[in-house]
Amino acid sequence: MKDKINVGIIGFGTVGTGTAKILFENSELIKKRTGIDLVLKRIADLDIKRDRGIKVPEGVLTTDADAVINDPDIDVVVELMGGIRPAKDFIIQAIKNKKHVVTANKALLATEGNEIFAEAEKNGVEVGFEASVAGGIPIIKVLREGLVANNIVAVYGIINGTSNYILTKMTDEKVEFSDALKEAQRLGYAEADPTFDIEGIDTAHKLTILSSLSYGIPLSYNEVYKEGITKITAQDIEFASELGYKIKLLAITKLSNGEIEMRVHPTMIPNEYLISKVDGVFNAVYVEGDAVGSTLYYGRGAGDMPTGSAVVADIVDIVQRGNGQKAKGIGYASADYKIRKMEDIESMYYFRFSAMDQPGVLSKISGILGNYNISIASVIQKGRRLGGSVPLVVLAHTAKERDVLNAIKEIDNLPVVSDKTLFIRVEGSEE
Ligand code: NDP
Ligand code: HSE
Repeated sequence: MKDKINVGIIGFGTVGTGTAKILFENSELIKKRTGIDLVLKRIADLDIKRDRGIKVPEGVLTTDADAVINDPDIDVVVELMGGIRPAKDFIIQAIKNKKHVVTANKALLATEGNEIFAEAEKNGVEVGFEASVAGGIPIIKVLREGLVANNIVAVYGIINGTSNYILTKMTDEKVEFSDALKEAQRLGYAEADPTFDIEGIDTAHKLTILSSLSYGIPLSYNEVYKEGITKITAQDIEFASELGYKIKLLAITKLSNGEIEMRVHPTMIPNEYLISKVDGVFNAVYVEGDAVGSTLYYGRGAGDMPTGSAVVADIVDIVQRGNGQKAKGIGYASADYKIRKMEDIESMYYFRFSAMDQPGVLSKISGILGNYNISIASVIQKGRRLGGSVPLVVLAHTAKERDVLNAIKEIDNLPVVSDKTLFIRVEGSEE
C-alpha cells in the first residue's frame, strides 16, 4: 500500500462538499485508524467561484474534470456530479487510466453499471458505491461482507430520504405535499430532477443495486416495478392511521417460489413494526438472511455529511484491499434466475373507492371483489353525501395482484363509482 493516497473529486455540490469537508477535517483520524494518508488533491466543478461554506487550499479547485481524471498522481477519482453523461464517460476514462473510482451515482450504476463494472474488472481497478444506497448506512458492506454467509430471504427498505421526509411531514404536521418537497430540496436531499424521488425512480435505482447484491443477478433496472407517492392523499394517510398503519415508500426484493421480486411502491406498514417508525430523511433497510434471521439498519439516507461519510469509507476500503476486483456480489448468479412479474405477486390491499352514497353500493363492490377471490377484512365509510360520492375504504386479506387489477377495472366501470379507485399494498401478518 502507498503511504499517501491522492483523491480527486468531480462535482462540488451537496455530497462533494460533505466529502471534501470530511477529508479535510478527519484525515488525521483516518490515518491514525488505518495508516492511510488521504490527500484531497483536486476538486473539479463547473462553478468554482460559488461559496460552498468550506475553505479549500489554493490550487485544488479546477473547472476541468480532465485535470482530475488524467492526473497521473491521482489514485482515486470520486464522481459526485450525478447524471448519466458525461459522468459515465468520466468514470470509464478514469478506469482506463487505472484509477479506482468511487461514486454515489445510483442512477448511473443501476442503468449502466454492468458495463462500468466489467470495464473496472478488465483494468484491475475497483468501483466503490457505498454512498449510492441509503446515504450514510453501510448497507453495501452489510450485504457483501457482513451477511456473506447467508442466502438472502428478503430485503425491505425505506431508501429515499426525500419521499420519506415528505410522507412524514404530511403525516405528522399536515404539511402540503408540494411544500414538503420544496423543503427537502432546500435541505439538499432531493435529486436534481425531484420526480426521481417522488415517482419511485431513485428508490428503484437503489433497489436494483440491492437486488443484485442480494441475489447475484446483473443490474436489472428495467425489471423493477415502480410506483411513487404522488397519488397518496392526506385522506389516505388519515385512513391508514385509523386502521393502525403508516404509509411508506417501500423497496422490496425477495425470493418467492424461486422467483425474484423487485418492486417499489407506497406500502401500508403496521404501526408496531420498527420500520414504520423511520421518519423524516432517515432510511432503514431490513434484511432477512437464512442464517442470521432478521436484521435492521438505520441512519440518514441523504445529505452532505452522511453521504460523504459513505464516500470516504469506500475510498479507505478500496485502498485497504488494494487489489482491484470486480464489485463483489453483482452478476454471479447463473442465467436461469427469473424475475417475478408484478401481476403474480400476492399482498394484502387497501382500497379507496369513490362510491355514490346510496343503498346497495357496498354489496355491488364487495360482490365483484368476491368474484375475484378478494376477501374483505374491514370497511370504513365516513360522512354522508346523499346523491354524491364518498370515500369507501376496504382492507382486504391476501390476494393476487392480477385479481386486484381485474376487479378494480370492473369496479371503476360501475355507474355508482365516480372516480378511479386508489389501492395501496399492505404489509403485515393476516389477522
Ligand atoms: P449537486 O447538484 O448538489 O452537485 C453536483 C455538482 O456537480 C454541482 O455543483 C454541478 O455543478 C457539478 N457538475 C455538473 N456537471 C459537472 C461537470 N461536467 N464537471 C464538473 N462538475 C459538474 O448533487 P448532489 O451532491 O446532491 O448529488 C451528487 C450525486 O450524489 C448524484 O449522483 C446523487 O444522486 C448522489 N447522491 C446524492 C445524495 C444527496 O443527499 N444529495 C445522497 C446520495 C447520493 P452545477 O451546479 O453548476 O451544475
Ligand atoms: N435524493 C436521494 C434521497 C438522495 O432523497 O434519498 C440520497 O440518495
